[in-house]
Amino acid sequence: MSNHNDSEHNVPKPPKRKEMSRRQFLTYTLGGATAYMAAGVVLPMVRFGVDPILQKKDEGAFVKTVEVSKVTSEPLEVHFELKQQDGWYTSNSSLIAWVRRGEDGSIYALSPICKHLGCTVGYNNNPELPNQYFCPCHGAHYTQEGKQLAVASKPLDEYTVKEEEGWVYLGEIIPNQRVQ
Ligand code: FES
Repeated sequence: MSNHNDSEHNVPKPPKRKEMSRRQFLTYTLGGATAYMAAGVVLPMVRFGVDPILQKKDEGAFVKTVEVSKVTSEPLEVHFELKQQDGWYTSNSSLIAWVRRGEDGSIYALSPICKHLGCTVGYNNNPELPNQYFCPCHGAHYTQEGKQLAVASKPLDEYTVKEEEGWVYLGEIIPNQRVQ
């Protein structure tokens, strides 16, 4: 008899489940719902603020400019528009390139921005310097490949170029690859 009672006492009792009070239930439910709604409001705002920064920039984008057949060994002045995205701000820049076919047969395009102080050079615009780019500001002049001959300390920059379906496409401006 006493043994039976002893064995009953020795049986481990299941742990008592902690009951959730009504107040706790309401607190958790309301807290969760509020957090869900707040995320719905805040996340789009965060996305709007950060999106332009994370978006892939247009670096490496090319602009269709002139037909390949029109490019000869005589530098051709080409005007084109470049759409630029800076964060939330979109702008159009008017650019100029001097496009020419070099002695090796390849097409290249020089930037007209003088490497002295940034004026715009012209081609064959000084009768004393035939077949050269000349800067009217302080007299810098350059060869057809953009090599500096006076005043400026660096050659004219060039655009990255690609030919596709009979057209010349110009990309970003890079240091001159033809001359030092
Ligand atoms: S800016 Fe061209 S020579 Fe000075």
